[in-house]
Amino acid sequence: MKFSVKTTDLNKQGKTCLMIGIYENKELTPSAKLIDKTLQGHIQQLLKRGTFSGKKNQILSLYPANAAMEHIMLIGCGKEGSLTPTGFRKLIIAAGKSLIATKASAATCYLTEVDIPNQDLAWKIKQITEAISDALYQFDLFKSDKEPVFLKEFTIDTPDSKQQKMANLALKQGEAIANGVFLTKNLANLPSNICTPTFLAEQAKELAKQYKKLSLTILEEKDMQKLKMGALLGVSQGSAEDAKLICLEYKGADKKKAPVALIGKGVTFDTGGNSLKPADAMVGMKYDMCGAASVLGTLKAAAELDLPINIVGIIPAVENMPGGTGYKPEDILTSMSGQTIEVISTDAEGRLILGDALTYCERYKPDVVIDIATLTGAVVIALGFHASGLIANDEALAQDLLKAGIESNDRAWQLPLWDEYQEQIKSPFADMANTGGRSAGTITAACFLSRFAKKFRWAHLDVAGTAAMMMGTSERMATGRPVPLLVQYLLDKVNQHAKS
Ligand code: BES
Ligand code: MN
Ligand code: ZN
Repeated sequence: MKFSVKTTDLNKQGKTCLMIGIYENKELTPSAKLIDKTLQGHIQQLLKRGTFSGKKNQILSLYPANAAMEHIMLIGCGKEGSLTPTGFRKLIIAAGKSLIATKASAATCYLTEVDIPNQDLAWKIKQITEAISDALYQFDLFKSDKEPVFLKEFTIDTPDSKQQKMANLALKQGEAIANGVFLTKNLANLPSNICTPTFLAEQAKELAKQYKKLSLTILEEKDMQKLKMGALLGVSQGSAEDAKLICLEYKGADKKKAPVALIGKGVTFDTGGNSLKPADAMVGMKYDMCGAASVLGTLKAAAELDLPINIVGIIPAVENMPGGTGYKPEDILTSMSGQTIEVISTDAEGRLILGDALTYCERYKPDVVIDIATLTGAVVIALGFHASGLIANDEALAQDLLKAGIESNDRAWQLPLWDEYQEQIKSPFADMANTGGRSAGTITAACFLSRFAKKFRWAHLDVAGTAAMMMGTSERMATGRPVPLLVQYLLDKVNQHAKS
């Protein structure tokens, strides 16, 4: 797909599909007015007749005879000023899907002139780019009948040619985010018989090959034994697949600059282990490596944008299996930090591998550490599929991430990390238990992690509800979240540096 931004002449677009926003009960936008004139009042007529009302998400393709414009797509935007950021994104995805269905090969989008309260042109360009990529996304690697995609060129109109420079930058960022999301979705959607810890390590190697500023270190089980990563190895011991600790370093700034560390949960399949999940709850557990996939996607975007910042991506990758060699409830594991853990549930495996990864992360002397994990079912109960759960030991970091989530339309919502909750993970036999009972499951999971994150500013994103849609067995698909949030956070950080 070739994206571009430019100030276009509506009357010289030839075969290109013209995507035009129409408000409900309102004057036409400048481009709609121009088209209406060319079509001798046809659009006003459609509105008057009620054939098209401009209601949100209403889409109508016109193929006027005897006009230079071959294909016009009217896109309902609702009442002027009523579109929210997520509403805008949904609208573009709907229009994009409709566009693909018409088999058009090129389109020019004039939705940059639609008013979204508090959002500027750069924001709209990024969102349009990401949303069209979403609409185009297919995962048909294992399908015998593949749907061909005809759309090849997508142009975003900028009302004023003076904005070209800013528009180009916005497009570049939008494309980098879309490419990171694409990688994340593809890895996440792969089944666990293909996407094993070893496979994830190979993908990291590919990425390191693609970008000069990325370098890779992989720790094997014997290396992890030397480091005494008893928690991570405990989770992995029931699996026939070897565990890997994947460490990717992106060096975009002076080597003395402390890096941002991103740690991604990479459980390539979560059966629950000997605390086996019920069969229904196991479907979707190939997505338990979405955190890992989002770290790879974010690093890809950062490398593509050549960000002047240092980043380290750490991925503990394991498979959680039951069986005679698997770890068991009431086993006591000694983590790399030296802290001991009583296993109450082998299904609370994510925090165990992340605990050791957090300790390992200390050697990079990170500026901040953000872990991304499909950690708890409880976060889906609390926030559903719309916001990632955010918990941090540093308020400024939490605020930066919340802000990046709003800006990127990939929102998070903060939960507290109060001492009172720490009580719930007490164990009579070890320094802590790996579960904290039914109440506040997302918070007690973060309490557990916080005990391995005392040496740095740290935030945790629980993406169990946002990284993949798992409504039913036939409706499952990775979303690529929270790559947009993370890339925006890095972009904001780069800008802050530039200012200070
Ligand atoms: N990978 C799951 C969390 C999950 C659940 C992700 C649903 C996506 C959808 C995690 O390893 C897990 O099993 N968590 C347990 C923790 C419990 C045993 C304390 C859970 O949430 O039930
Ligand atoms: Mn689990
Ligand atoms: Zn899990």
